[in-house]
Amino acid sequence: MKLETALSKRLGLRYPLVAAPMFLISNKEMLVACAEAGILGCMPSLNARTPEQFRADLAWVRARTDKPIGINLTLGLTPKERVDADLTACLEHDVPVILTSYGNPTDIVKRAHEKGRLVFHDVITLQHGRKAVGAGVDAIIAVGAGAGGHAGRISPFVLIPWLAEELKVPIIAAGCISDGRQVVASLSLGAQLCYLGTRFIASEECGASPEYKQLVVASGPEDVVYTDAVSGIHANFLKATVPENFSADRSPEGAKRWKDIWSAGQGVGLVHAVKSISVIVEDLAREAHDTLAALA
Ligand SMILES: Cc1cc2nc3c(=O)[nH]c(=O)nc-3n(C[C@H](O)[C@H](O)[C@H](O)COP(=O)(O)O)c2cc1C
Repeated sequence: MKLETALSKRLGLRYPLVAAPMFLISNKEMLVACAEAGILGCMPSLNARTPEQFRADLAWVRARTDKPIGINLTLGLTPKERVDADLTACLEHDVPVILTSYGNPTDIVKRAHEKGRLVFHDVITLQHGRKAVGAGVDAIIAVGAGAGGHAGRISPFVLIPWLAEELKVPIIAAGCISDGRQVVASLSLGAQLCYLGTRFIASEECGASPEYKQLVVASGPEDVVYTDAVSGIHANFLKATVPENFSADRSPEGAKRWKDIWSAGQGVGLVHAVKSISVIVEDLAREAHDTLAALA
């Protein structure tokens, strides 16, 4: 097996790896570091406070690299005017991949395809995957149990091959991928890209605080709790940062809680050090090659 897929080739990536978008903590420095390392770096557009700041961030990235990047539009959680403005900025700044989550991607797909861009949509169930494929998305991000951020309940062992069989579009594996063994496992289950969030929290470039990064390094899967009490939607958090007796909050205040209540997935168990993105990517590639060699 080669560390290459039809989708990674189409995007011009050295490795079939994505640094997944993370609310508040992905930043423009990560986009550039990922581009240089040969993987797809992604950021939620909302990590820039205003549409003007977002445009400035894209220009900053484009002044440093012409390699592919991905931008996440969190549809249901973002005012429509902001989504429209940020999509326009993406289309003007040569962003080849738009990642949609929490909503109906139909309008985004239409505008993105007119400009020859790709849309990948995040799902935790087959039902949502079918709807997104109906809306014309180019790939489905299958977010399995144990993922950082808003996660599903289905094991990646089943979710990836199941959605690949049922949906007939490329599947991107998300959730609990922290080292090269899991990259090989995901590709063998039929994934065309691996989407890693938690591993990249513990990167030098990430905007998370040093304390957050160290807690990811120090934690194991049992230190992660799956709860809807923070923002009203089930997500995984580092238990030590979740106060007791919390009530669910779907308002914008709920989203603000992510600043002090830190999200990460069960993959923390295999994150052992904070490293630069270039070193993390080379580690992942070496571990994947070693795994393949051992299997052969
Ligand atoms: C702190 C944090 C914030 C996240 N924010 C977002 C987000 O704003 N939009 C989104 O689509 N996914 C978000 N995610 C999910 C990731 O994009 C990705 O699906 C997930 O991290 C993959 O699982 P892993 O963390 O186990 O690698 C977030 C994840 C984390 C850990």
